[in-house]
Amino acid sequence: MRVISGRVFFRGQLEPLSIGIDEAGRITAIKKTLRGDEAIDHGDALILPGCVDLHVHMRDPGLTHKEDFPSGTRSAAIGGVTTVADMPNTVPPVTTRTVLDQKEAAVRGRATVDYALYAAPPDGDAVGRLTPAVAFKVFMAESTGNLAVTVPRMEDILQAAAKSPKVVVIHAEDPGKFTKQKATDLRGHSDARPKIAEETAVATVARLRGEGRVHVAHVTCVEALDQVPANATCEVTPHHLFLDSSKPLGARGKVNPPLRSPADREALWESFRGGRIDAVASDHAPHTLDEKGGPFEEAPAGMPGVATAFPLLMRRTRAGELDLPRLVSAMATRPAEILGIPKGTIEVGRDADLIVVDPREIESVTAKRVQYKCGWTPFEGMEGCFPRAVYLHGETVVEDREPVSERHGRLVHVSR
Ligand code: DOR
Ligand code: ZN
Repeated sequence: MRVISGRVFFRGQLEPLSIGIDEAGRITAIKKTLRGDEAIDHGDALILPGCVDLHVHMRDPGLTHKEDFPSGTRSAAIGGVTTVADMPNTVPPVTTRTVLDQKEAAVRGRATVDYALYAAPPDGDAVGRLTPAVAFKVFMAESTGNLAVTVPRMEDILQAAAKSPKVVVIHAEDPGKFTKQKATDLRGHSDARPKIAEETAVATVARLRGEGRVHVAHVTCVEALDQVPANATCEVTPHHLFLDSSKPLGARGKVNPPLRSPADREALWESFRGGRIDAVASDHAPHTLDEKGGPFEEAPAGMPGVATAFPLLMRRTRAGELDLPRLVSAMATRPAEILGIPKGTIEVGRDADLIVVDPREIESVTAKRVQYKCGWTPFEGMEGCFPRAVYLHGETVVEDREPVSERHGRLVHVSR
């Protein structure tokens, strides 16, 4: 048995504890002291459940010049993420069972962390055929991948999905509220895809959702948040919490839905801090610097973020601006519950997916540190607390802050 000790986040609080892990990588005991063949003592560093990022775009297959499964999941591990759920706007898009099966086969054995795959059903009929997917994604407006569906189609998909235990994750922007004007900077982009487009789209989802599980992706403003019905869930991205349209990012800061004003960002942060937002998801959407380098209006939308979500938020916790239980809930426990996968808590019987972090160890975020294939991060120079070690099924995948072991990631299934 492998035994890992430290200040463990267990049942909502930190306690000096030892975690016993069996051959299969499962947690078999959590006690004050435990004896094992191999003991790793992390002293007073924190041991938290590995983060579950329910919204990433690893670009594999088809767009692997931007990112691929090995590179993206290695970066995930560096940032303390032990499970990712990958979006369906890869090439070809995951709209049929055949493509879903092909994608599953193509990424198998190439991931450093555990992973789950989304599908994008084009209509209600397709939902039943896409059962191996962890969840369904609906785009109400165009973004990378041309997967947008009409409102009646969305209603059809929501009705079909209500018969399954799976959640429908919605990119909520109403294209009817977009302006025709070409944007040449971040403020212009926010005006072109305004807050009202999001607010209206979320209101439409609230009206049509029926009995199914619905999750609203990347809310950017309190107005949209106010429309999320009480029994639906929602997520916020680190870029909408830490960046805004006043930052000198140019097209690198172009994302859908857009970065908003500093006041919107602050209000969103307060809502998050106060517990009104269920999860933090990175919406890791890498594009190359070349692609981002042309005229603003032609640049693709999206930015990388899987490796920085936890470090940036952990830094805010260290600064006293965010409670640790809130952080663990938003980055591990709730995202796992939303997807219905057996991850996100430290408990006997669960996979030993653990991260070890010493909040006193503060680093600057750099492109080199996060190792994205695209070679840049919009959070360059900001402070973060990166995990010192990461374990996946009890196996070391990050040691002394560096990835050490790759390709142990497994496909994760819904357990409810
Ligand atoms: O900015 C975005 N980029 N929004 C999306 O909805 C898709 C994503 C991407 O895949 O590039
Ligand atoms: Zn996305």
